[in-house]
Amino acid sequence: MSTTDRNTNEPLPAPWHSESGLPAPRRLVPADDRLRAATAHRLAGEGTGLLWRGDYQGARQLLRALERRIDRKAPAPAATPAETFRLHRRFRAHRARVLGRLAVLLEPDHTLRLRRAPDTRAACTAAYGPPAGPRLVPLRELLGVLGAHQWRERGVPVPALDARVHPHYGVFAPVRAEYVDLVAQEPLPAGHTAFDLGTGTGVLAAVLARRGIDRVVATDISPRARACARDTVHRLGLASRITVTGPGLFPPGRAALVVCNPPWLPGRPASTLEQGVYDPGGRMLHAFLAGLAEHLEPAGEGWLILSDLAEHLGLRTRADLLTAIDTAGLRVTGRTDTRPRHPRAADPADPLHTARAAEVTSLWRLTPR
Ligand SMILES: C[S@@+](CC[C@H](N)C(=O)[O-])C[C@H]1O[C@@H](n2cnc3c(N)ncnc32)[C@H](O)[C@@H]1O
Repeated sequence: MSTTDRNTNEPLPAPWHSESGLPAPRRLVPADDRLRAATAHRLAGEGTGLLWRGDYQGARQLLRALERRIDRKAPAPAATPAETFRLHRRFRAHRARVLGRLAVLLEPDHTLRLRRAPDTRAACTAAYGPPAGPRLVPLRELLGVLGAHQWRERGVPVPALDARVHPHYGVFAPVRAEYVDLVAQEPLPAGHTAFDLGTGTGVLAAVLARRGIDRVVATDISPRARACARDTVHRLGLASRITVTGPGLFPPGRAALVVCNPPWLPGRPASTLEQGVYDPGGRMLHAFLAGLAEHLEPAGEGWLILSDLAEHLGLRTRADLLTAIDTAGLRVTGRTDTRPRHPRAADPADPLHTARAAEVTSLWRLTPR
């Protein structure tokens, strides 16, 4: 099977596959170790795809060289944090597009037929599903698939569970322990049931079950997250206590505790890979607030886990959040704050450094008014 390049009518050698939704290049030229970074940068910048035929390590080096060239044009901080964030997002999207034009051909069995290439079969099958013919993929995305697979195999340590969770490709990973600790330490309301909305790896559902809640129903919009959460539940021996379902946000019925850790930044995800981080217009946050009262048992509580990074970036105000809580007929009965311990907060080269350094993550306790 082949995909036709609309501009030149020359067929691509295989269907284009980009997990982050990058469009197929307008034109594709063969490339190998003789290609200089400056030429590659010019071609990729013009929209030409480079189909790598050379050495695998050479392709990685070229990718790094392209990154350095593109990063020389990174935007300077703007007058406001919101404008800096907007420019940063736009630059990252441009960077992803240009870097995404260095492509490799995945064979029908998910192997990469390049010198010194690693075995890509298990990682690609985990991310893309069983082999279904050849595909052209951006090298950068393939490296992401390989990295994610290593991470999945190794697992992320979660101190609150005294265990590791194994994030699947494209699933929000609990690398920041501070919000998990909030859920692990907050006094529980009376009752035996809980919902975990937007469960991701299932980490918070597992924490709640480990804390003694008898029945937890965990939901997620993403099929990858649901598969991952089921995997977590089985690995931790919690299958009799946790049910994973979706794609709807709320399961039917009511619970004594409803926990929700929505994506923390209002904004359009560039692809499903960003669904754990960006929430367009705060849709999930608002849906959680709007549906909470009718899904709580009497004396039940909602726990909203939210960082104030969006506030520091000028994307949402504290007043917006309080108004949304009030409009949903809820009141705040308590709030526990913690400071994230993530490395990027201390990286002055990160254009969002100031906002990250000031970030506070909170668990908001909510009840119907
Ligand atoms: C910030 S992540 C939190 C994941 C997990 N609860 C944790 O704390 O590690 C947000 C999750 O919400 C999911 N999500 C986003 N929009 C959703 C929606 N409308 N309904 C259900 N889940 C949604 C995403 O797929 C993602 O897994």
